Amino acid sequence: MSIAVVILAAGKGTRMKSALPKVLHPIAGKSMLEHVLDCAETLKPQNQIIVYGHEGRLVQRQLVSKKVDWAEQAEQKGTGHAVLQAVPYFGKADKILILYGDVPLIQSKTLKKLLETDKAISLLTVKLADPSGYGRIVRNAQNQVNAIVEQKDATPEQLEIQEVNTGIMAVESCYLNLWLEALSNNNAQGEYYLTDIIKMAVDQGLSINTVYPSKNWEVEGINSRIQLAKLERTWQRVQAKKCMLAGITLIDPMRFDLRGTLQHGTDITIDVNVILEGHNQFGQNIQIGANTVIKNCIIEDNVIIKENCVFENAFIGKESIIGPFARLRPEAKLLGHNHVGNFVEIKKSQIGEGSKINHLSYIGDTHMGETCNIGAGTITCNYDGANKWVTLIEDNAFIGSNSALVAPVQIGQNATIGAGSVITRNAHEDALTLTRAKQQSVPNWKRPTKD
Ligand code: UD1
Ligand code: CA
Repeated sequence: MSIAVVILAAGKGTRMKSALPKVLHPIAGKSMLEHVLDCAETLKPQNQIIVYGHEGRLVQRQLVSKKVDWAEQAEQKGTGHAVLQAVPYFGKADKILILYGDVPLIQSKTLKKLLETDKAISLLTVKLADPSGYGRIVRNAQNQVNAIVEQKDATPEQLEIQEVNTGIMAVESCYLNLWLEALSNNNAQGEYYLTDIIKMAVDQGLSINTVYPSKNWEVEGINSRIQLAKLERTWQRVQAKKCMLAGITLIDPMRFDLRGTLQHGTDITIDVNVILEGHNQFGQNIQIGANTVIKNCIIEDNVIIKENCVFENAFIGKESIIGPFARLRPEAKLLGHNHVGNFVEIKKSQIGEGSKINHLSYIGDTHMGETCNIGAGTITCNYDGANKWVTLIEDNAFIGSNSALVAPVQIGQNATIGAGSVITRNAHEDALTLTRAKQQSVPNWKRPTKD
């Protein structure tokens, strides 16, 4: 069975009060529309069609990398009219699955259930304690769906119905084409209602299949930033639960944010206010201190990360101790058993096993061997104002505190650099190199005084 997915995203989203189109607002670091696209992708559809209107170009620009068809709905004349704009892209699809760009957390398990039917229409419905605003599902004495009645067209009795239309449905395309053509806008809102196809099907003697979502949050729609924030928290709680069930201790699951994907082992403890972004890969037995942000990193077994660290595109080898207040920038590669302490920034550098950079350092464009000791305040001067240059530090070198290594420069194996040196030429192995002036004393020194 081939499926075409239609995603309605033409609405203005005025209640967001935003220059950004509503469907581009993110949940867990990914736009609502991408959540829907990625979910639909798991069904292996023949194609995905986005019906766009307001700020369509912005939406297209953000999704250039996605293979989708774009159908413009210049004027919003209702959900039926919106789906009609997608008809030219239906191709040979047997079924059309209709989703919404502002209902971001629909899950593929629920959609698979929706598609498992030989009925011409399969509706995703939900029972709500407060159904106001939604189209009501009207059933007959045999409990068969007869129609969907919009709030504004409903009788007082119909308004009592708690089962509502989520809007999500799967429809056989041969029928859908005909029904869409037959829609009229003769209703309270003067719109072409997609939901009117239910009555058309029933009039043809067809029965309607209905399915409930596994979780109600799957069908929550977003109209305001308040709803966006609420659904973000819901989703974070869902993810937090999944992490805990898989062996991660979250000191407070309400203060954990996973904005992307996490591949991980067990016995990882994450303290409060940790944000994980992009794709992270963690080994086992890892501790992550409070207020730490980790993006696209690999962290091996038995690593301790203390509070207030920021890492991006970095590799942290096993048994390392990092932080507090450490910053690892893209291409920082710590091979293992490393100590990186407070106010240390490392960029595009490989740090050999067992090397330590414990305080107040900038290490950039550096290749460092094993068991080096980098004193407090050591800076690699990698930039001459125009180009970046490499610093080579060989195994077991000891760099005295407050030294500047002016690249390109090489520090030999087992070399020692005296504290406070500015190293501009290669320092030989096994030697002590220092560039500071000899200490001298002037006895009985009189400080200058004001006249
Ligand atoms: C619709 C359903 C209602 C359901 C509710 C669930 C109809 C007639 N009604 O009502 O039964 O309970 O959703 O939230 O379908 N859109 C377009 N183009 C349009 C109109 C809408 O792209 O011309 C998109 C909007 O961007 C939005 C979605 O379709 O994402 C729903 O539109 P909305 O106007 O919110 O429909 P409701 O009146 O809430
Ligand atoms: Ca709505």
